[in-house]
Amino acid sequence: MSNEFLFDLKIDSFRACFNKYTRKAFRTLPKLEKPRILDIGCGSGVPTMELARLCNGEIIGIDIDQDLLDRLSRKIEQEGLNNRVKAIKCSLLDIKFPDNSFDIIWAEGSITTLGVERSLRGWIRLLKPEGFLVIHDEIKHFFKKRYKVASCGYKLIEHFSLPEEAWWEEYYSPLEIRIKELYKKYSNDPDALDVLKIHQTEIDMVKASPKSFQSVFCIMQKI
Ligand SMILES: C[S@@+](CC[C@H](N)C(=O)[O-])C[C@H]1O[C@@H](n2cnc3c(N)ncnc32)[C@H](O)[C@@H]1O
Repeated sequence: MSNEFLFDLKIDSFRACFNKYTRKAFRTLPKLEKPRILDIGCGSGVPTMELARLCNGEIIGIDIDQDLLDRLSRKIEQEGLNNRVKAIKCSLLDIKFPDNSFDIIWAEGSITTLGVERSLRGWIRLLKPEGFLVIHDEIKHFFKKRYKVASCGYKLIEHFSLPEEAWWEEYYSPLEIRIKELYKKYSNDPDALDVLKIHQTEIDMVKASPKSFQSVFCIMQKI
């Protein structure tokens, strides 16, 4: 995949429209001095970098996709944050950090891999006493199972949904316009066209039912 194509696609700049919600969720937490944060399923690190801007702590992003981690590593380098932000290849199915390692676990779009109950139960040991778990995911994946929060050892501090059509209006619709432009520009590049098709398929699914794709932030505390 050419760097020029990835630069043209600007996927991270579309994703960054949701940083305002990451900030809103972060501000529900009490002020912590130099918090240690684990960002699970960090991807190319749009929320990871926002967390680094929001606090003076150490942020470790983990993901299984090396290409995405490389993109995050470049951002860390560019912003001179090597001393406190790290991108580590690690599966969320087998997180090897010791117990009580983190003040905050952040997980945007990654709870479905393990499922709600296994994620909540599996990740709690990583949190320090009274540490926080922040989830952002589709309502249908997480929020409907929020009754499991207490039995998994947490209390629900706060939650808020994104506006009903935020994903369509703020992310997918502008992305679709960009993709249409790039189909023309990269009509002779099969690798680029494959990536564009994957995004377009996702867009078509959301377009068919824009309101059904709604997400929620849930802020929980280890008890
Ligand atoms: C929907 S993306 C979210 C990325 C990022 N958190 C964000 O909000 O922009 C889900 C991420 O989970 C990662 N992922 C999927 N399975 C994983 C696993 N077993 N271990 C670690 N990361 C995984 C994917 O590579 C992807 O980057």
